[in-house]
Amino acid sequence: MSFTVEETKIKLQSTGDDLVFFVNGKKITEKNAEPEITLLTYLRRSLGLTGTKLGCAEGGCGACTLMVSKYHPHQNRIIHHAVNACLAPLCSLHHCAVTTVEGIGSVASKLHPVQERIAKAHGSQCGFCTPGIVMSMYALLRSNPQPSMHDIQEAFQGNLCRCTGYRPILEGYRTFTKDGGCCGGKGQTNGCCMTNGCIEEHVNVTQKLYDQSEFMPLDPTQEIIFPPELMRELRFVGERVLWIQPCSLKELLELKATYPNAKLVVGNTEVGESHFKNLLYPVILAPAYIPELNIIQHTQDGIEVGASVTLTVLGDVLRAAVKKLPTHQTEVFEAVLEQLRWFAGQQIRNVAVCHVSLPEIKSVLYKLMDLKKTEILLSIEIPYTRKYFSAFKQSPRKEDDIAIVTSGMNVLFKEKSNIVQSIRISYGGMAPVTVLSKCISFTQSLFDCRQWNEELLEQACTSLAEEMSLSPSAPGGMVTYRRTLTISLFYKFFLTVQHKLALDLGMEVFNTFKNLLFLILFNTFFSTLTQSRLFQLDSPSGVQLYQAVPPGDNSDDVVGHPIMHLSALKHATGEAIYCDDIPCYENELRLALVTSTKAHALIKSIDTSDAMEVPGVVAFISAKDIPGSNLTGPVFNDETVFADDKVFFIFYILSEFSVQETACTKKHITHKDKLDWFANVCVHSFQQDAIANKSFYQPVRSMERGDVAQGFKDSDHILHGKMHIGGQEQFYLETNCTVAVPRGEDGEMELFVSTQAASKTQALVAKALGVPANRVVCRVKRMGGGFGGKESRSTILSTVVAVAAYTTKRPVRCMLDRDEDMLVTGGRHPFFGHYKVKFFLQISQIDATIGRFCIMPGCTLFILERALFHMDNSYNIPNIHGTGYICKTNLPSNSAFRGFGGPQGMMIAESWMSDVALSCGLPAEEVRRMNMYKEGDFTPFNQRLDQFTIDLCWEECMQLSDFNMRKEAVEQYNRQHRWTKRGLAIIPTKFGISYTAVFLNQAGALVHVYSDGSVLLTHGGTEMGQGLHTKMVQVASKTLGIPCSKIHITETSTNTVPNTSPTAASVSSDLNGMAVYNACQTLLQRLQPCIDKNPKGCWEDWVNLGYDFNTNSGRAFNYFSYGVAVSEVEIDCLTGSHKNLHTSIVMDVGKSLNPALDIGQVEGGFMQGLGLFTLEELRYSPDGYLYTRGPGMYKIPSFGDIPIELKVSLLRDAPNEKAIFSSKAVGEPPLFLAASVFYAIKDAITVARAESGLTGPFRLDSPATPERIRNACEDKFTKLNPEKNHGFYKNIKQHNGF
Ligand SMILES: Cc1cc2nc3c(=O)[nH]c(=O)nc-3n(C[C@H](O)[C@H](O)[C@H](O)COP(=O)(O)OP(=O)(O)OC[C@H]3O[C@@H](n4cnc5c(N)ncnc54)[C@H](O)[C@@H]3O)c2cc1C
Ligand code: FES
Ligand code: FES
Repeated sequence: MSFTVEETKIKLQSTGDDLVFFVNGKKITEKNAEPEITLLTYLRRSLGLTGTKLGCAEGGCGACTLMVSKYHPHQNRIIHHAVNACLAPLCSLHHCAVTTVEGIGSVASKLHPVQERIAKAHGSQCGFCTPGIVMSMYALLRSNPQPSMHDIQEAFQGNLCRCTGYRPILEGYRTFTKDGGCCGGKGQTNGCCMTNGCIEEHVNVTQKLYDQSEFMPLDPTQEIIFPPELMRELRFVGERVLWIQPCSLKELLELKATYPNAKLVVGNTEVGESHFKNLLYPVILAPAYIPELNIIQHTQDGIEVGASVTLTVLGDVLRAAVKKLPTHQTEVFEAVLEQLRWFAGQQIRNVAVCHVSLPEIKSVLYKLMDLKKTEILLSIEIPYTRKYFSAFKQSPRKEDDIAIVTSGMNVLFKEKSNIVQSIRISYGGMAPVTVLSKCISFTQSLFDCRQWNEELLEQACTSLAEEMSLSPSAPGGMVTYRRTLTISLFYKFFLTVQHKLALDLGMEVFNTFKNLLFLILFNTFFSTLTQSRLFQLDSPSGVQLYQAVPPGDNSDDVVGHPIMHLSALKHATGEAIYCDDIPCYENELRLALVTSTKAHALIKSIDTSDAMEVPGVVAFISAKDIPGSNLTGPVFNDETVFADDKVFFIFYILSEFSVQETACTKKHITHKDKLDWFANVCVHSFQQDAIANKSFYQPVRSMERGDVAQGFKDSDHILHGKMHIGGQEQFYLETNCTVAVPRGEDGEMELFVSTQAASKTQALVAKALGVPANRVVCRVKRMGGGFGGKESRSTILSTVVAVAAYTTKRPVRCMLDRDEDMLVTGGRHPFFGHYKVKFFLQISQIDATIGRFCIMPGCTLFILERALFHMDNSYNIPNIHGTGYICKTNLPSNSAFRGFGGPQGMMIAESWMSDVALSCGLPAEEVRRMNMYKEGDFTPFNQRLDQFTIDLCWEECMQLSDFNMRKEAVEQYNRQHRWTKRGLAIIPTKFGISYTAVFLNQAGALVHVYSDGSVLLTHGGTEMGQGLHTKMVQVASKTLGIPCSKIHITETSTNTVPNTSPTAASVSSDLNGMAVYNACQTLLQRLQPCIDKNPKGCWEDWVNLGYDFNTNSGRAFNYFSYGVAVSEVEIDCLTGSHKNLHTSIVMDVGKSLNPALDIGQVEGGFMQGLGLFTLEELRYSPDGYLYTRGPGMYKIPSFGDIPIELKVSLLRDAPNEKAIFSSKAVGEPPLFLAASVFYAIKDAITVARAESGLTGPFRLDSPATPERIRNACEDKFTKLNPEKNHGFYKNIKQHNGF
């Protein structure tokens, strides 16, 4: 968009006002406030307050949360709100007070209780989300010092955490509620320590992970006061944008007449996202304080709400009205309130106005589309009830997510009858604009003067199925599901109205139902409908059990104790430094990537002339600028850093621009380059294309045990099945970041990187720069999450940044935007599995299986091998064969992700196990138990299973979850309910520990003892939140016999410990722990020759590892980690939603080094698995363009997804002699246990299908999204919308989906 002549003239005449606001009690007067700058950028870059983090820049993750306080003239009070700093324009803060995480407390001075409690409750792992969570809680307490658990859960709807699994955060903050920490026996059945008797039953068990009595009390009188002097029209003039804040309606209308193209901005939550589209609004009008736009008044027909009233205020007003007015008047208000709960997060609701999809409002708002350029919206009216009204929103994730379909329905009856007088039905998500009644005129006409009965229902459903059609390639996809939803939601409305009519008119209305079965089903449905309204209010409860350290141990020996993550307090105060928090160098440059927009093409030319003219651009760098080698790769150097003349996948890095940062230069440039493409060569975007074209990389890997051919010959029963497991984005909260600083001598380069692979980064950068490795130092202080995603792909970004620094001879920094990170770095490999299983029907024993896996590329051979190593999961199959193919596609290369192919291999094993159980008609748990390994059995790769603890885990998990009682309750529930079903599943896991690439099983440590007795410890592992540094300090402490407080870790760096393996594969504690141990032992030997010189020879075990695929011999893993989980779910068969009712996990982590950290890993891993198997879905265009590129479109689990009841138990008395201090690895193994949720869903679907007469195996792909669940619950409504072959859709974002 360009300036109009008038706009330019007026802008040039404008003189800017001073922006005055407070930050942490300090007055700031900004003379040249730039309208394009957000509060976040200002805090981090201008004020150096880096505690507030950047996770997404689109209001979707909450990492940037802080508190904004302002005097509200229309409410005549000071309000304190949590706000997303990434969306808040700096200019909107005039006369506001901003409080950041640094402002409420610090480690150096005094902690705030909000900071202390999250840290001590182990609610922080990588710590990147922690400041945002702290500030959401702080803002809540400022307005509500004694919140309920429900208030806390609502306050966190806009915050994401990818590490902890949320439970410890909620537990820690529960201590601020009226009831305080322990639920006092009022928790869920058996989910409470006081009622489940766990503690009494086991003398050596404990569940106290922290001591609540140590917490500081909350004293509201000590908070920063609102600056009294902050109680007029304002103009802020930027380089490209003029910001005007008018004070009166008259002024606003005059300005709109003068600047017809001006953009109105209130919360900026919609306009703020426009930076993704590179949109420029030269004139912005901010009408937030205009009295007429803040009006709230009751009228004869409803409540009039001004167009600048925020959603939070609207919620307060409606809640008050619901309390005060008779219920028959407030049905619409209640529906709006219910919808508000699922509308974005609290931070967005605090600032955004009601441009919402609430259907009753939307129909009014749609007149907005008819607004002339000089008009504005003044207010809207929310009507009192027109009996009967319901609103529905169905989205992939319940909290803070875009709807797939929304609906508002309203029916009026003739007096004292069930004869329809009028009906209005509207649907969002089915067309570019809301589908209103007039668009479904035939359906509408059916209702005229008709009785509200089953006949009408059937006709209306059939008619809706015809009228609510969608083209197979409709934007947003999910065509069959969306069409079925329109009918299912109408059915829900029908039943709800029917119930209310019955109450209002008396039971005679039921007599219109001839069908008794329908009546029963209706009653049971209604009871669950009302229940399901409440389900998100249930606050989660949890139990964590672990082995207590026997009393009398040396108090300096902290191994086995749940000590807090050593950086947790710094996470909570914002003092922990991440890569992009490093202060800017004086002459530093920022880097912008230019990536290919074609998947497979030849580059003819690149014209950078336009981009080079943008102010601030210093250099354009491409393959020809690399002084050394352009070849790179984690193990094999088989790809290039920059595309040379060819691109092989979409988003291939073509070049980079080094720029000086100005408000928006970075985005501006990348859109100014011009690329001339020669040709699009044949593209394989998806596995299916590659499989159909037999386009595979070599080698094809196979593994076989027994005689499979013979096994199949003696067949009793054989089944075939298929399963697709979708990919997954790591979604670490901190995106990839590198700062490269050329040292100016001998080609030296210093790199500060957020990476799991410091040595690999060093080696690949040295190779690209053409210098020996000893000239490059790579430093890693900590990461804001990694999960494998910063192991292989982060090196490419570091290399391009280093090349830019080398070329420009200046420090260069790049932190990827969330969408860039998701585009270029790849994620978990999608898998397609095809299997054939032979089994004995009567006894459900499996005799032979053949599996074929096809996987997407990237790090692939090792991923594929690990999948084959886990294709048996925990089952002893005498004759088993697996083959793996690596598909050749033109999507970005994938990368490691927690589990590294293991979860996919095991998931497919569980799919055939589930099919066998369904074919035999036996309970799945019996079939699983029957086929499970026993001590001394051999795996398909001929490794003997020693110290096999799955039996123990299984038995304890059955007990912990009360499996048998739970099963009876589930069956009873299912008999009584038709449209919601419960499911239960128990799933084991066996996960091999060690790198299967033998040479990677090595580590190093450097221990300095200073003359004052303090110890500086360095080891080869990196800290990404898993608590590795904490554990290593515990190991050193125990080995040296000194307290942890004497030991410090500064960072991981290649000049202290060289040639390190990446921190991955769950083995970092094992490998580095041994290295630390050895180093400490060496020191002890030197210092105290009389100390025990018997290090037990574990190192020998490690170097003897190794498995040979060709001979199916050798030792693939050092040992296995085992675990079992039981999960219970409830599905809504009409919409496909599900809720996680219960999960019990028993995990064998050997003798835990630190139960708090290990339980954190179990819960965090489980929640990532929950995302993988039930929620997270990557969506691509036909030519491989990733649609789901940020928290707005890609949904990871949120607070509301954790099981309502979660029990975690670390198996007791199971020491592991093969790792440090008898412990076991814990990072990856628990992830797969979330498959228990998937199979519990499948169990519930099985019951739902049986209601429609469908039995036997059926295919359910992962993730089990609402769409898949609904489509699998076949019934009379799905039959109205038979699944068709869908075309590709051009855009995932629905025009009207909110
Ligand atoms: C993380 C996130 C989650 C979200 N979740 C949801 C969701 O669940 N459901 C949903 O429906 N939406 C959702 N949204 C979108 C959100 O509703 C809108 O962003 C918000 O309602 C807009 O309010 P605002 O004040 O921030 O808008 P702004 O960005 O300030 O402006 C929005 C638009 O309204 C226009 N406008 C503002 N006031 C007037 C007026 N008085 N007269 C005429 N035009 C005017 C502006 O010019 C602009 O085009 C989400 C957004 C984000 C960032
Ligand atoms: S960075 Fe602001 S919400 Fe994610
Ligand atoms: S601790 Fe929450 S994202 Fe890492």
